[in-house]
Amino acid sequence: MPSLLQKFLLGIPLACLASGHVINGSLPSNYKIDVHSHVIPPIWKKELISAGYPVKNGTLYTDGFAVPDWTLDLHISTMDSLGVNYSTMSVSAPGVFFLKEAQKAKSLARSINLALHNYTQAYPTRLGALCLLPLPYVAEAVDELKFCLDTLGFAGVGLFTNSNGTYLGDSSLDPIFTALDERNASVFVHPASPDCSSVALDWPIPMTEYPFDTVRAIENMLLTGQRAKYPDIKMIFAHGGGAIPFLATRIAGMASLPLLGGLSIPDSLAQLAGYYFDTAASTSAIQLTALKSFVGADQIVTGTDYPYVPSSQAIPGLSAIQGNGNFTIAEMGNINNQNALTIFPRIVKALESN
Ligand SMILES: *[C@@H]1O[C@H](CO)[C@@H](O)[C@H](O)[C@H]1NC(C)=O
Ligand SMILES: *[C@@H]1O[C@H](CO)[C@@H](O)[C@H](O)[C@H]1NC(C)=O
Ligand SMILES: *[C@@H]1O[C@H](CO)[C@@H](O)[C@H](O)[C@H]1NC(C)=O
Ligand SMILES: *[C@@H]1O[C@H](CO)[C@@H](O)[C@H](O)[C@H]1NC(C)=O
Ligand SMILES: *[C@@H]1O[C@H](CO)[C@@H](O)[C@H](O)[C@H]1NC(C)=O
Ligand SMILES: *[C@@H]1O[C@H](CO)[C@@H](O)[C@H](O)[C@H]1NC(C)=O
Ligand SMILES: *[C@@H]1O[C@H](CO)[C@@H](O)[C@H](O)[C@H]1NC(C)=O
Repeated sequence: MPSLLQKFLLGIPLACLASGHVINGSLPSNYKIDVHSHVIPPIWKKELISAGYPVKNGTLYTDGFAVPDWTLDLHISTMDSLGVNYSTMSVSAPGVFFLKEAQKAKSLARSINLALHNYTQAYPTRLGALCLLPLPYVAEAVDELKFCLDTLGFAGVGLFTNSNGTYLGDSSLDPIFTALDERNASVFVHPASPDCSSVALDWPIPMTEYPFDTVRAIENMLLTGQRAKYPDIKMIFAHGGGAIPFLATRIAGMASLPLLGGLSIPDSLAQLAGYYFDTAASTSAIQLTALKSFVGADQIVTGTDYPYVPSSQAIPGLSAIQGNGNFTIAEMGNINNQNALTIFPRIVKALESN
């Protein structure tokens, strides 16, 4: 049987089929890769409930937000109704950092990663997995990263803006970044609740605290110098980067003050714009215009945040991207699939070999 890609390649001379170039331009521009979708494995839900996350009227809540129903079948059928061809799956906040012992966090992360692996085995041309790390336990997290990438062949790694208060940028996380760097591995960063969750005034934390926590993590990586130390790791930040397109010039301006190390404003701005950003819940004309002027269409990737964002919002969101961002068909091809393939070369391999 021809592979998915071969179906698009009939007629292309064999000499053009060098690996890595095969897929480039060979997928239709509307082939959608969703880099921001979540799984809710039953074992994770069970541990959250045991740890005391509230269940109201039969529904579990994390960060003040209802955890939706999820099954693998529902994931695939929702991809079909959203018109999503391929999804990378990750676990949302609070990952496993709600567990108070390293051994427990490590063991739950391992079970979840094995479940993720199974899902990808069941749907090799539709699903890729992002490794869940047992942070803030760094040594255990490095082991798990190696297992996911080197043994299970995951597409990439999932990180959170902070894990129990340890933010990206903290030097304790350097071993994680070193291990990523050594493997040219890419990262999807999901927001989490800030430690001081009372700032949310009892409203659901994802509403505004998640976007601001994204800014906090990006800002911390600038000010601590961690991003400058590992500039080549491809990182996706969710939800259009939170508020970063709007706040970058303010942050770069302050970072230039002697008090904060006197960083060069153009260098800081280039660093802050040196990431990929997904479109989950960020598809209005205001958001896409800001994102387009901040990074351009080569650094925007498609994200839905399924199942936390329901189809009733994801469907109109996806179909609004081109018009609201005033993107050309070629730019949509980048946003829908080419940028994701540049970030995750293992998706190219999976599509080529299945
Ligand atoms: C509780 O759940 C039931 C069944 O899902 C639903 O019909 C009912 O409206 C819910 N009650 C409240 C107070 O949310
Ligand atoms: C991608 O998904 C769309 C919508 O579900 C479908 O029409 C199309 O055939 C899919 N493309 C491939 C290559 O599977
Ligand atoms: C993975 O799939 C295999 C075979 O279907 C099954 O035996 C195993 O229990 C599954 N493991 C997980 C973690 O879901
Ligand atoms: C998580 O944070 C709390 C509060 O700062 C602290 O008491 C606890 O030790 C932390 N847990 C881990 C695993 O670092
Ligand atoms: C990482 O990328 C660099 C530069 O493209 C390359 O030289 C190196 O071999 C790659 N390493 C791995 C482990 O893929
Ligand atoms: C949309 O983009 C085109 C160039 O691709 C430009 O000519 C046009 O002015 C833009 N329209 C708006 C409303 O920005
Ligand atoms: C596709 O081609 C463009 C330039 O034409 C390049 O920038 C990009 O890295 C390529 N992507 C892949 C996955 O090879």
